Amino acid sequence: MVARKLKIGLLGCGTVGGGLVELVGKNSSLIRQRAGVELSITKILVRDPLKDRPGVERALLTTHPEKVLDNGCDMVVELVGGIEPARTFIQHSLARGKHVVTANKALLALDGFSLMKAAELQKVRLGFEASVCGGIPIIRALRNGLVGNQIQRLTGILNGTCNYILTRMTEDRVEFDAALAEAQAKGFAEADPTLDIDGHDAAQKLKILAELAFHSRVAADAVQTEGIRHITADDIQVARELGYVIKHIATAEVADDSIALEVHPVLLPATDQLASVRDENNAVLVRGDAVGEMLFSGKGAGSLPSASAVLSDIVDIACHKGGFSASFGGAVRTAVPDHSARHYLRFPVSDPSAIGPITNILERNGVGIVRAAAVWAKNASAQNQVRVLTQACCRSAVENSLRDIAASGLEKGKGIALRVAE
Ligand code: HSE
Repeated sequence: MVARKLKIGLLGCGTVGGGLVELVGKNSSLIRQRAGVELSITKILVRDPLKDRPGVERALLTTHPEKVLDNGCDMVVELVGGIEPARTFIQHSLARGKHVVTANKALLALDGFSLMKAAELQKVRLGFEASVCGGIPIIRALRNGLVGNQIQRLTGILNGTCNYILTRMTEDRVEFDAALAEAQAKGFAEADPTLDIDGHDAAQKLKILAELAFHSRVAADAVQTEGIRHITADDIQVARELGYVIKHIATAEVADDSIALEVHPVLLPATDQLASVRDENNAVLVRGDAVGEMLFSGKGAGSLPSASAVLSDIVDIACHKGGFSASFGGAVRTAVPDHSARHYLRFPVSDPSAIGPITNILERNGVGIVRAAAVWAKNASAQNQVRVLTQACCRSAVENSLRDIAASGLEKGKGIALRVAE
């Protein structure tokens, strides 16, 4: 078979871009055999052409975007990330009738619909498999494999950095800052890691998945978002003693005529399917009306897993015509989740005798208590604490209590309030 040539203009050669160059080099003959296309990366946009990039041909590098965008390539792969200039690059490429592949979840969460519409108008494709869950083909599963299902619920671990940090803190008792530094060194974290640890990266991914799963547009601020930066090794230890593992979980669920979307740390039973997802792995449990529950899991961050997803889009676009529809219905109503659940609460306090007034405030707000403990600091760098495990109650009752406790002046610093999954 004579292979068709496909010229790729690559924007960005960081963790994922470098992985793509490596993977195309390694597996190009396999792709030629399987798909009948011969891939060649013709130009690569970088910020610093002198930086050491093993395996990347220097002659391909440029600091001028137009040399990538306007050099006659068939497809543009955008891996610079962020909103601008990435959006302009993509719009420019689509307007010139070029297919685009991107891993840019921040941009897709903000402006995905208009970019898909622009691609539809130009009869070209916009691939974004690498934007969610690294190497796991979850976008393709939702768009193709599960297209015959009404999706009722999606829940999963969508941020590799948070999962890596929590795994290291749980299994090796590594401190939060050290675990984050490791995740950064391994290329899992965003350039601005607060996007990971404060939950925004997972929220962007959940929005992308929810729009595909529920075939609707979701407002940018619809995801209730909470990160993991206040979780301590002690919290993890207490959770373990109770039989739980702390995980950063994203959930999108149909509730009456609306969808509730949430990203937050949760105490999961140690036997839960998601509790055993370790390191930078991600997982998504999808519940469809026909297939029932299905688990997708694998590496959610890192150079080659993400490059694998980018390459899958490149080959898919090269081989299959069609797929131009932006394919969303209207905007969906979103609801703030207010499930009844037990909660684990920790309050840093000057005086542990604050346990009395704190539990009184909780009870006044209708929050029943399973157990409460006053904990004296073990050393000068630790804090006195009050820890409470509540009975099942609505999140709103907990929020009201937290507001009253903050106003009472009993707390010294920021505590945590984590839901306990059953
Ligand atoms: N920072 C992201 C994560 C990279 O940790 O999941 C992959 O999207």
